Amino acid sequence: MPHAASQEQDESATAPAPRPTRRRLLLTLAGAAALSAVTAVTAGGGRAVAAPAPPGGRTARPAAARLSERVSALLARLTLDEKTALLHGATDPAGLGQAGYVPGIPRLGIPALRLADGPAGVRVVRRATALPAPVMLAAAFDPALARAYGQVIGHEGRALGQDVLLSPMVNLIRTPYAGRNFETFSEDPLLSADLVAEEIRGIQGEGLVATVKHLALNNQEHDRMSVDVRAGEQTLHETELRGFEAAVAAGAGAVMAAYNKVDGVHATENSALLTDVLRGLWGFDGWVMSDWGAVHSTDAALTAGCDMEMPGGTYFGAALRRAVTEGRVPRDAVDTAVGRLLSARERFGLLDEATTRPARDAAAGARLALRVATAGATLLRNTARTLPLTGRAARSIAVIGPSGAVPFVSGGGSAHVVPDTATSPLDALRTRAGARATVTYALGEDPYGKPLPATRPARDLDAVGVAAHETWSHRGTLTTTADDDWSFFVHYSGTRPRITLDGDDLFPVRPGVAGYFTGGLGGRAADGLSVRRADRRLAAGTHTLTVTARGGAQGQLFRLRAANGATRAADLAEAVTAARAAHSAVLFAYEDATEGRDRTSLALPGRQEALIEAVTAANPRTTVVLNTSSAVTMPWLAKTAAVLQMYYPGQEGAAATAAVLFGDADPGGRLTQTFPATEERHPTAGDPRRYPGKDGVEEYGEGIHVGHRWYDAHDETPLFPFGHGLSYTTFVYAAPWITRADDGLDIAFTVVNTGTRTGIEVAQVYAGPSPDLAALGIDQPRRILAGYRRLRLAPGEQRRVTVRVTARTLSSWDPARHRWVLGTGRRRLWVGSSSRALHLTAETRVGAP
Ligand code: BGC
Repeated sequence: MPHAASQEQDESATAPAPRPTRRRLLLTLAGAAALSAVTAVTAGGGRAVAAPAPPGGRTARPAAARLSERVSALLARLTLDEKTALLHGATDPAGLGQAGYVPGIPRLGIPALRLADGPAGVRVVRRATALPAPVMLAAAFDPALARAYGQVIGHEGRALGQDVLLSPMVNLIRTPYAGRNFETFSEDPLLSADLVAEEIRGIQGEGLVATVKHLALNNQEHDRMSVDVRAGEQTLHETELRGFEAAVAAGAGAVMAAYNKVDGVHATENSALLTDVLRGLWGFDGWVMSDWGAVHSTDAALTAGCDMEMPGGTYFGAALRRAVTEGRVPRDAVDTAVGRLLSARERFGLLDEATTRPARDAAAGARLALRVATAGATLLRNTARTLPLTGRAARSIAVIGPSGAVPFVSGGGSAHVVPDTATSPLDALRTRAGARATVTYALGEDPYGKPLPATRPARDLDAVGVAAHETWSHRGTLTTTADDDWSFFVHYSGTRPRITLDGDDLFPVRPGVAGYFTGGLGGRAADGLSVRRADRRLAAGTHTLTVTARGGAQGQLFRLRAANGATRAADLAEAVTAARAAHSAVLFAYEDATEGRDRTSLALPGRQEALIEAVTAANPRTTVVLNTSSAVTMPWLAKTAAVLQMYYPGQEGAAATAAVLFGDADPGGRLTQTFPATEERHPTAGDPRRYPGKDGVEEYGEGIHVGHRWYDAHDETPLFPFGHGLSYTTFVYAAPWITRADDGLDIAFTVVNTGTRTGIEVAQVYAGPSPDLAALGIDQPRRILAGYRRLRLAPGEQRRVTVRVTARTLSSWDPARHRWVLGTGRRRLWVGSSSRALHLTAETRVGAP
């Protein structure tokens, strides 16, 4: 048991302000405020920025950036047509398959620009290293690893002909339902800020421009194109904007403006965000591009500070040229945008054609992918030393579940990467267990369906090839003997066949989204065919089935499959038999998340909960391995022996999973988001205005109490708290001591590995509120994450650790004075191994400098 200690100190810990300023938040136009008893600080990173706010409450606009001689000369020679051509995307003649392309201006030697997603690896048509999802990287609580991750993507991006990476995404995990939670880091602003900054340094160190996205409040996919998200000034600065600010401080070359609206204004037209905060307050000197299709106007977007429209030129092409010639948009506004773009390109050497590009280093990519998947593997539960698998438990294993046999590499949408390779966990476990072990497999839950029962007239619908430009059709009947829940699956290449049942179009094609919002497991069969699923309740009787497939230019392959009560019962029985016959069971459960849609439930989809119930009843030594994007509810938790959260682990996920299950590696991950106990008990539950929004408006009702802060504020017990994750060894914490530091406080403490194995611990420091700010009526979380340190300790090893809590971390954004203010007075710090496992505490006085 870790022991608690408490230290009372009265030492005055002063947090000096590196550059005390009277800057104001430029989102609001209230009058300038005088400095008060607490001193405004701008610690922790902004660059030199705008002049102090002018009196009288007008917004201070950033001064126009000084252009280099080369950029000024280019600007003078570019025609209006050429300038606007640089400000929007077009189709890439080279067909590399990346998300964006901007043609060059050969006359002036300006090369084309290629922009590729994304957050988990470079997304082009060619193969690349599919890294673990960013949420898994974040679970390592290791900024140095984030830098290495950025380096791999940066290097590969250059090698694969790209200039700009549309990554990282730093929007907070605000609701567990959000479809892109796997693509971003955390619910915690400090952790997100640290990781985004290091990843950007890694990417840009390789010569690629990093694009931090999506500014701002793009925390959900539901209505993402239109939802109007409202968060007060304090909430914005203390939560969602922290990561963006850190990205700018780390020198990010580009920012992507989000689809959604912020405080009633499209993010791409939001001058408060794009100009006042981004450029004025933070001193951003790169360029802003729109998300794909997020521009809604010409003049409003350009003058608000959106410099580039992607992926086409609906508003920044001919429409912009017209607006300039008709005097609706000043020429200066175009020059400003082009100047920013060229300046950033100059900084990255992108004004000269790349003469050489590095070769890909696939082996280095694979090594890093494995390292991250192991470092982020999060052991949520481990009873009776179920893991690691040793002795009999390692020699007789039943592997169950579809993602045990088909590797779950990455999530769906723009973060999907074509992996170099991917092994199935089953193969990895068999290899690791060795030839003398028995490792069996049962599907348990079927995401792809079985061949359809015979239709009349009989027609083989399980392997149809349609020649190019031909049409294939079938009209028949399917007879069912009882009312039942059916799932139909079409697997196909090329154009999706049209299949109707009793006139109901089972797999309608929605224009613009075909093939994009799939990834993960259920969207693609093992042989690479795309998969779509439709669930229907069918009454007993005869149903009319029609199939029409068109060969298109490439021809087509397809098959139609189904699952029903009988096939499900057979799958379940097979899994139970396998579990019973083996000493231990490893059940892989999954959830397919994708950009473009939110989850509608936090439960594991399909019948996986019933599968877990049945398998754990058959074999109590069952470990559940989760390939899920974000939190899931676990009504089955108590029945399991162990639960290992592997997220979307990238192309080396199988090897990492095997290494952790067998104890070759200690599970190094900790939760970067709280897992709620039920669907009703989390920060966005119970009020549609909070999520998913009402009448097109969504309010950040939880204010600054995002994520774990909300659970503390409401005394809510989560299923698993933020920061939770088990090691195979045990640690004890002791002897906290706080001292003053140049930029805030240092807390020192000792961590001892009291077990018999080398293990990973993530020591976490939390800070309580400032009484002085409370007296001023400034809302503060009960506890914030104030710092952390990832440690690797040998058995018996003890380490004295010092964690810096910066002045910025000890500050709050004062909405009345529109600035950061240091939280003075007695402040309590805690040290622990999760937001709810706090082993040490100490207090000190923070004074005004
Ligand atoms: C996504 C961006 C992505 C872009 C290009 C958009 O739909 O929101 O994150 O970078 O597409 O693929």
